[in-house]
Amino acid sequence: MVRVGINGYGTIGRRVADAVRLQPDMELMGIVKRTPDYRAFLAMQKAIPIFAPDNPTKSKLESAGIKVEGLLDDLFARSDIIIDVSPEKGEENKAVYEKAGAKVIFQGGEEHSIGEASFVAQCNYDQAVGKRYVRVVSCNTTALARVLKTLDDSLGIEKAIATLVRRATDPDDSSKGPIDSVVPDPVELPSHHADDVKTILPNLNLTTMAVKVPTTHMHLHALAMKVKEPDAGKALSALLGAPRILLFESKKGYKATSSIIDYAREIGRPRGDLYEVGVWKESIKVEDDWLYLLLGVHQEAIVVPENIDCIRAMTGEADASRSIQMTNKTLGMMK
Ligand SMILES: NC(=O)c1ccc[n+]([C@@H]2O[C@H](COP(=O)([O-])OP(=O)(O)OC[C@H]3O[C@@H](n4cnc5c(N)ncnc54)[C@H](OP(=O)(O)O)[C@@H]3O)[C@@H](O)[C@H]2O)c1
Repeated sequence: MVRVGINGYGTIGRRVADAVRLQPDMELMGIVKRTPDYRAFLAMQKAIPIFAPDNPTKSKLESAGIKVEGLLDDLFARSDIIIDVSPEKGEENKAVYEKAGAKVIFQGGEEHSIGEASFVAQCNYDQAVGKRYVRVVSCNTTALARVLKTLDDSLGIEKAIATLVRRATDPDDSSKGPIDSVVPDPVELPSHHADDVKTILPNLNLTTMAVKVPTTHMHLHALAMKVKEPDAGKALSALLGAPRILLFESKKGYKATSSIIDYAREIGRPRGDLYEVGVWKESIKVEDDWLYLLLGVHQEAIVVPENIDCIRAMTGEADASRSIQMTNKTLGMMK
């Protein structure tokens, strides 16, 4: 059993904690909490051991009625690997991890340079095997890497251009809304997203642009790819055969990100989470030597299976497909 500790219990941390608890080869040793809010009480209800970063925070949590198991150091001592799911505080936290000698997974809000590799399971699993520090990339980068790698392997991508329409914030975050605007993010083009994808697919010729819109459900990406073999049927087969990519048909009613989230709720996924990239089948089109498609990314969920596979890679499971299959099965993914 791999013993896992989680530092941060927000949007991603809570999901990764639940996913770890579903793995037959992992044990959740506890989470670190700072604020005595409803999330801490819910963790307590789930019997998840709660740790505090320091003694003053421990007293604050305890006086709010939260049972605290110990301090961060105690959690580190009990864990084989720590998942840093902080709001981009990984670099700051690294000094503590260094001292503890811990293996650590960081998240996409951090720079690539924080780890020895950046990670998307179906693209570069091998690069994380046995490593001490690895970064699971952002939700947008994970989706782009899964789809672009699949299509590059199948059709050969000469040039790709992606426009990212990003959700303004997560559903539980009221601090950034309401807004009534479409925000170029950034105005100065291109956006940084292409550089991040190149941490996974270094040879891909990709340019990205991004805007933020007033929705909380999902991101939507519009992709244009100049390909060596412009064959929409072959692109569809490749996407159908790839793990963690689902095809949604507009003619069946999947007309918007909201209906894709509704699908995830209807099939009984926890929190209505969609771990897969959702590609609209009818959007896959070829014109001249360009291939086009639209995809949706559930930002809260897509990196959860990546964190689980990354734990396995870093703690000794060298077989990518064995890990991906086990993660998919435990999280209820059909492919
Ligand atoms: N949200 C997304 O859509 C998304 C998608 C993919 C990747 N990511 C990446 O995942 C990481 C976490 O994002 P998130 O959205 O889960 O953040 P979040 O919801 O804001 O949660 C952050 C958590 O970190 C805790 N925290 C605060 N300061 C900390 C510190 N110094 N060290 C450790 N933990 C600390 C907070 O604790 P308290 O609640 O106890 O105060 C909170 O539980 C970021 O790198 C982000 O870029 C986010």
